[in-house]
Amino acid sequence: MPTFPSPLADSGYDVADYTEVHPDYGTAADMAALLDAAHARGIRVYLDLVFNHTSLAHPWFTESVNDPTGPRGDWFVWSDTEGLGCEGAAGPFGDVRWTLEPTRGQYYFHQFYPQQPDLNFENAEVRAALLDVARFWLDRGVDGFRLDVPYRYDEDLPVCVHRPGTFEFLRDLRALTDGYDAAMVGEILAAPEQLAAYLEPDVLQMGFLLAEAAVFWIAGSSGNAQSLSRAIGDVVSAVPPGQGTFATVIGNHDLSRPTEAVMADPGALRVMAAVQLTLPGVPFLYYGEELGMLGGAGVIVDGRDSARTPMQWDASPTAGFTTGAPFLPLAPEHETRNVESLRGDPGSLLEHYRRLIALRTSTRALTTGTYQALRPASAQQLVYWRRHPDGDRLVIANFGRDAATVRAEVPGWAGAFDELSQAEVGVVAANALGGEIPAQTVWVLRAR
Ligand code: NOJ
Repeated sequence: MPTFPSPLADSGYDVADYTEVHPDYGTAADMAALLDAAHARGIRVYLDLVFNHTSLAHPWFTESVNDPTGPRGDWFVWSDTEGLGCEGAAGPFGDVRWTLEPTRGQYYFHQFYPQQPDLNFENAEVRAALLDVARFWLDRGVDGFRLDVPYRYDEDLPVCVHRPGTFEFLRDLRALTDGYDAAMVGEILAAPEQLAAYLEPDVLQMGFLLAEAAVFWIAGSSGNAQSLSRAIGDVVSAVPPGQGTFATVIGNHDLSRPTEAVMADPGALRVMAAVQLTLPGVPFLYYGEELGMLGGAGVIVDGRDSARTPMQWDASPTAGFTTGAPFLPLAPEHETRNVESLRGDPGSLLEHYRRLIALRTSTRALTTGTYQALRPASAQQLVYWRRHPDGDRLVIANFGRDAATVRAEVPGWAGAFDELSQAEVGVVAANALGGEIPAQTVWVLRAR
């Protein structure tokens, strides 16, 4: 979540200063040290940029309140009356979109909590100030940004999403970041064709497939892979090659822990992970997924806090996350679901993830290869063919809780498959595509 100073009415998504670090996290010098240490290890760091709105505590808002005719008077969206809301808006933020500001005697517009006044993207100075924020962090060595709700930046009420002004701003932001070796991932809630518009070559490099997280859960919990297969097929055909790419998730800070979503079934977690890490797109793992972390019960902001409990590094009382008091109570079973306890145990979810990540990063077909869905022998299975000049891979995933008969034919291809990847245990004989795949198992076969 965002790292900027904030009253934390929405876990930092209410920003009071875009160019500082929240004192709970440290100082600007700590951020610089983090960037250096990450870069020394080949790790890139993206900041979560929240441009749709600020906090009530941001000086821009204070100035707008106190000086309606001054330079920042219309940096926010003001009205004498409660205006229109956004079509189709929903979520944990309530229905109220306009809140009376008593000093200015006008209502301000907000798409999220009342503590998050929307910035006015119609104002060119606002857009320039936000580009300055991005430049500030790029100059300090940040490698990219996760953009918070960029599809909601500009609005023409009641239309709040996918507006031309939004795309214009994103193109300017892209031109700026292109001057650095930086990239962006957008939090875009959209149908596949709309997502494709955000992935045009001069807009964003990556866009999250957020709604599709639930499709992974359905496959994991029901054992039926058909809706997942459809969802991936739709997005692959909507986003042409040569554009930006979608980014897969099975959880994040707004969603339930995947472990909860599949009723803590370890087999479901394993098969979801193996599919996510062998599909096209950029897989984003949310911390703790690799441990099967459970949802917590503590609430500071709202129910979403269940997926925001401290990372579990070890079995100590504060899970190695802090020597002080954790900001949220630890999730249950942190004594066993932690890095120290699971590392080195080949049967653990953590080691499963580590093998999958190693496989993916060493296999071009799994990262940039093409994707073609093949007809599976049963609804429990997802079968796909990833092709790359360096070597093709056939992936067969069985989400079912029973072993299943495999019958995969690759149209127009007459080679043989000779090896299971190191991601799975066991051996498959040459071209043995008529065999049985065990329950909740994913095979990655190498084409010969
Ligand atoms: C989306 C973020 O993911 C969510 O956590 C936040 O509450 C809203 N945007 C508002 O910033």
